[in-house]
Amino acid sequence: MRKKIVAGNWKMNLNFTEAEELAASLAEKLEGKALKCEVVICPPALYLEMATDFAEESVIKVGAQNVSNQESGAYTGEIAAGMLASIDVEYCLVGHSERRKYYHENNAFLAQKVDKLLDNDLIPVYCCGEQLEEREKENHFAIVEQQISEGLFHLNTEEFYNVVIAYEPVWAIGTGVTASSEQAQEMHAFIRSLVAKKYGADLAAEITILYGGSCNPKNAKELFSQSDVDGGLIGGASLKADDFVTIINSF
Ligand code: 13P
Repeated sequence: MRKKIVAGNWKMNLNFTEAEELAASLAEKLEGKALKCEVVICPPALYLEMATDFAEESVIKVGAQNVSNQESGAYTGEIAAGMLASIDVEYCLVGHSERRKYYHENNAFLAQKVDKLLDNDLIPVYCCGEQLEEREKENHFAIVEQQISEGLFHLNTEEFYNVVIAYEPVWAIGTGVTASSEQAQEMHAFIRSLVAKKYGADLAAEITILYGGSCNPKNAKELFSQSDVDGGLIGGASLKADDFVTIINSF
């Protein structure tokens, strides 16, 4: 059975003390609980080592929000995949819509980041999703297909096994407007069919596809009940320990 994941993307929020309190509170609430999913937190880069220290003692795993497309060297301000690996970070978001929008990251550039992560044994959580205008023009399947094929389909089968995909419709992120469970299921099934076409049905059945975009304690159960929705990438609701734990327990 494929892996279920609930990942919290903290984005650029919280000071160090608040971040530490949130990590501690989560670790405490999850201690000794039988969980049906893997739990990942993605704090700002500056707090990753603090988070991996907590992770060592708990079920929580740690992901970064971003990584350089380069291996090492004169790239001021960047953080390399090897650096993340060296402090036991296991996951990394790639191509979040905010990176695509504000930092102009395109699919070809994101493909390089995916490669660097896999080279260093980190799991890329590759984000895709259409904007509202694209859905209104019924272009959403074509956009997501392009994001996935250009960002991921250069990988070989063995590499692809180590990828997680997150579908995050841009119009649902931070807006309070969630995709309906039918819309999420429809797109997740489409993504899985793309993977099946390229890599075969067996691999497609193994790939974890997360939903993100205004997922909260009230709607998580319904979303996660869809057959192709394997968990969530949670923004706002991951900043409150109780809400995040309710989402984690929504399988
Ligand atoms: P919200 O849950 O705040 O809508 O954010 C989703 C997201 O962007 C997670 O990466």
